[in-house]
Amino acid sequence: MKKILDIIEQELIDAFVNCGYSEKYARVTLSNRPDLCEYQCNGALAAAKEYKKAPIMIANEVIDSLKASTLFEMKEAVMPGFINLKLSPSFLADYLNEVLEDDRLGCEKTQVPKTIIIDYGGPNVAKPLHVGHLRSAIIGESVKRIAKFMGHHVIGDVHLGDWGLQLGLIITELKYRKPTLPYFDDTYTGEYPSEAPFTISELEEIYPTASGKSKEDEAYKKEAMQATYLLQNGHKGYVALFNHIIQVSVTDLKKNYENLNVSFDLWKGESDAQPYIPDMVSYMKENEYAYISNGALVVDVKEDTDTKEIPPCMILKSDGASLYNTTDLATIVERMKLYNPDEMIYVVDKRQELYFEQVFRCAKKTKLVNEDTKLKFLGFGTMNGKDGKPFKTREGGVMRLESLITSINEEMYKKITENKEGVSEDEARRTAKIIALAAVKYGDLSNQATKDYVFDIDRFISFEGDTGPYLLYTIVRIKSILAKYAENNQRIDNAVINPAKTDVEKTLMLELTKLNSVIEASYEESAPHKICSYIYDLANAFNRFYHETKILTEEDEVTKAGWIKLLMLTKNVLETSIDLLGFNAPERM
Ligand code: ARG
Repeated sequence: MKKILDIIEQELIDAFVNCGYSEKYARVTLSNRPDLCEYQCNGALAAAKEYKKAPIMIANEVIDSLKASTLFEMKEAVMPGFINLKLSPSFLADYLNEVLEDDRLGCEKTQVPKTIIIDYGGPNVAKPLHVGHLRSAIIGESVKRIAKFMGHHVIGDVHLGDWGLQLGLIITELKYRKPTLPYFDDTYTGEYPSEAPFTISELEEIYPTASGKSKEDEAYKKEAMQATYLLQNGHKGYVALFNHIIQVSVTDLKKNYENLNVSFDLWKGESDAQPYIPDMVSYMKENEYAYISNGALVVDVKEDTDTKEIPPCMILKSDGASLYNTTDLATIVERMKLYNPDEMIYVVDKRQELYFEQVFRCAKKTKLVNEDTKLKFLGFGTMNGKDGKPFKTREGGVMRLESLITSINEEMYKKITENKEGVSEDEARRTAKIIALAAVKYGDLSNQATKDYVFDIDRFISFEGDTGPYLLYTIVRIKSILAKYAENNQRIDNAVINPAKTDVEKTLMLELTKLNSVIEASYEESAPHKICSYIYDLANAFNRFYHETKILTEEDEVTKAGWIKLLMLTKNVLETSIDLLGFNAPERM
C-alpha cells in the first residue's frame, strides 16, 4: 500500500503542476503545529523565489486547484504562504480499512531484495555472557527482524570468539587437572570419547582460574600459548578438546539466547575463517597491497581526506601470527565466497569503531569485497549503572547476563503477584518472564544505539511511562476489551472502521497510518528506536481514546463494531511492532 504521506503529496504535486509550478515544491510533511493542522506543505515559500510571486499567492492558487479533492476536510493557505491540511475522516477510515484487510498492514516489501549478513552477539566461547553482550544481541536481533520484514534475505551470524588464548588456557588447565585424559597422550591412536570431559559449570570455572594463573605465572602462560599454537596447527587431541569446548559452550549459549528471544541462522566463529587466511595473505602480498613494516605485514588504509590518523591495518604480526584483524578480513572472504552478500552489518561496541574502519577500508582497497558491497558498522554505547559508570554487580564485578535476567524476572514476579490472587504460580512466572524481557529490550532499544544509557531497572519495569511493560499493558487492555466484546456479540466480519467523530479518535487513526513509513525509516537507518517512539505515541493515543470513549457500553451497534475494528487494528500494529523489537505480549497481566 502507498504511504499516506505519498498519497497526500501526489495530490499536492498535481495541484502545483496544474498551476504551472514545479512538483519539487509539493513536499508534504507531518505538521509541526498539530493544533493548526495535521499535514503541511511549505513549498510555496520556496517557489516564490523562482516564480517571483508572493508565496501566499502561490499557496492560494494551489488551494484553489485542490477544490475538487476529496482527501481533505480542511485545506487553507495562511500567511506568509503555508499550506495547512487536515485529512478527511472518511478518507482516513477508508485507508485504515484497507490496512486492516492487508496481511502486511500496509507495509510493502522492498522491490530490490538484498542479501544482508548481520554479525551480532559475538560471545566468546567458554566465557560466560556478560551485560556487554546483551546490547549486541538485542539490537542485532531487532535490526535483523526489521530487514527480514522488509523482504530482504537476512542471515544472522553469531560470530563466536572461538580462536585465541582462552582456548589454550582451558586446555592447559585441564591438562593439570586431568593429565591422564587421552587428549594429552601423544601416542594415543584410538577414538576420543564423544562425551566432553567437563560440564558447562566446570568450564566456566576453569577459564577464570586459568586466566588468573596465567597472569601470575609466566611459565603457565607460556604453556597456554604453546597449547594455543598446537591447537591452531592441528594437534589432534587439542582439536578434539576444542570441539568439546565449542559443543558445550554453544549448547549453553543457545539456551541463554533463547531466553532472550534471540536466534541466529549461522553459528560460525573466528575459527571457521582460519582456513581462508593463507590464501588471503599471499593474495595481498602478490598484488602489493600488503608490505612489511617493522617486521609486520600491513596494508595502508589512510585516505587524503582523513582528519584523524588512521593507522595501517596489520595483517600478520612480526612473528607471523594472525590477529583479530586477520580473522575479520578472512571472515569477509569466507562470507563473500559462501553467501555473496550485498551488505554486512556489524553490531559491535562503538569502541571498536576505528578498528572496523580499518578493516572495512582494507577489505575495499584489497578488493575482498565488490565496489558496491556495503560494510556497515552499527556501534552501540555502554550500558551504565545508575552511578553513570559501566554496569557492574553490587560487589563491583562483571555482571553475568544470566544473573541479571534472573534478578529482573524475580523483580517482575514480585510486582505482578503483589495484591493479586487467583493466578497460578506457574502462569505468574511465565508472565513475569515475558514482561521482564520486554522491559529490558525496550529499555535498551528505545535509546539511539550509539548512545550510552543508564540501565535503570526500576524505571524499566514500571507499567507507566515510556517502558516496555506500559506497551504490553496497552496490548493486554485491548485484548481484554476484544475478548469481552466477543463474549456478548456476534461476529463482526462485515463491520468497518467508521470515520472519526472525535479528536481523540482521529488522532489514534492518524497514528495508525504511520506504520509503513516508520518501519521503512527504521530499516533504512538501522534504527529500532524509531519503532519504539512510534509505538509509544500510538499507545498514548490509544489510551487517551480509551479513557474518553465508552466502547463496550455504546448503544449504536455500528459505531461499537467500528471501534472494535479500530482496536483490532491497533492491536495488530502494536504486536507487529514489538515482534520487530524482539518481544511479545502475554495474554493477561
Ligand atoms: N567477540 C567480540 C567481543 O566479545 C565481538 C565480536 C564482534 N564481531 C566481529 N566480527 N569482530 O568483543
